[in-house]
Amino acid sequence: MKVLNPGDLDFACKILRSDNLLAFPTETVYGLGGNAYSDDAVFKIFQCKKRSQFNPISVCYFSFHKSLSDVEPTKEAELLAENFLPGALTLVLRRKNYSKISWLCSAGKNTIGIRVPDHPMALSLLKNLNFPLAAPSANISSKLSSTTALDVCESFKSEDLYVLDGGICNLGIESTIVDLSGDQPRILRIGAISKEELEDKCRIKFTIETGSKFSHYKPKKQIILNVQYAEEDDGLLTFGTPIAKTKYCLNLSEKSDLKEAAKNLFSMLHSLDSSDAKRICVMPIPNIGIGQAINDRLKKASN
Ligand code: TXA
Ligand code: MG
Repeated sequence: MKVLNPGDLDFACKILRSDNLLAFPTETVYGLGGNAYSDDAVFKIFQCKKRSQFNPISVCYFSFHKSLSDVEPTKEAELLAENFLPGALTLVLRRKNYSKISWLCSAGKNTIGIRVPDHPMALSLLKNLNFPLAAPSANISSKLSSTTALDVCESFKSEDLYVLDGGICNLGIESTIVDLSGDQPRILRIGAISKEELEDKCRIKFTIETGSKFSHYKPKKQIILNVQYAEEDDGLLTFGTPIAKTKYCLNLSEKSDLKEAAKNLFSMLHSLDSSDAKRICVMPIPNIGIGQAINDRLKKASN
C-alpha cells in the first residue's frame, strides 16, 4: 500500500481514470473506489475485498442531481436528499434502463445504492472525474471497517494499492441505507443517521429490515459485549467511567459522548485487535441515537 496526500489529488484521479483502485476518505469510513462505469474496475473491487458477487456495491456521486442519469427518484428520495445529502445516507433506487453503471454494482438486482459523501477530498475527486465511483468500505469482506489511512494499509497489507490520506473519518460509522425501490421505505442498515432523525425531518415512516446474510465487522480476537468485569490481560473498550483498568484499555469517550464514541469505534477496535490483549471486552453503550449503530456493529462483530 502507498499513501497519498491531499496535494496528490491529480495523481489520485489518474489512478482512477486508468481503471485502478484508490482508497479514499469519506465522513463515515474509508471507501475503496473504482470507476463505476467500468466492469474491469468494479471487478477489481470485488476481488480485492474478497467480496461476494451477490452483495451489491453502492456508488458515490458528486451530487444527488448527478445520480439522476442512473436512477429513478421517488418523492421520498428527493425529500431525503434535500435534507441529508451530501451526508451519511445511502438511497437504494431503481436503475434507469440506459444507466451506464456496471451491472456488477447491482449484483443481480435492478437497483443502485446512491451515496453523496460529505467529505472535501471525496467531493474533489468526484468533481474532477467524469464518472461516479463504485465504493464499498475499504476493508476485506467480513472484517472491521477502516477510519484511518493506516488501518486501510493494515487491511490491504499485501495489495499494490494507493490510499488518499484524509486523517480520521469524522463520523466513524457507515451510512444509513434506505431502500426506496419497493412499496414501503425500508432501512437496510442502521448507520450514522438514526431512524428517528430521518422520520422526524421528512415525515416518512420506515420499517427496519437489517438482516444481512453477509457477515460483517469481525476482528481476529474474540469480542465480548456489555462486560461488567475484565481481566488484566484483556483488551478493554470503555465508555464513560471505566469499570476496570487493564493493560490494554481504550476509552471510546471519557465524557460519555456517543458521537465521539462512534468516531473512535473502528480505530480502537483495530488497535486492540493488533495488540497482545487476550480478548476484546466492551462496556455497555447506551442504545440511543448513533448508539444504536454502534451496538449494531458490535453485535455483528461478536457473533
Ligand atoms: O458509509 C458508507 O456507506 C461507506 C462509505 C465508504 O461510503 N460504504 C459502505 O459500503 O459501507 P459497504 O459496501 O461496506 O456497505 C454498503 C452496503 C452493502 O452491505 C450492500 O449490501 C448495500 O450497502 N447496498 C449497496 N447497494 C445496494 C443495492 N442496490 N441494494 C441493496 N443494498 C445495497
Ligand atoms: Mg462494509
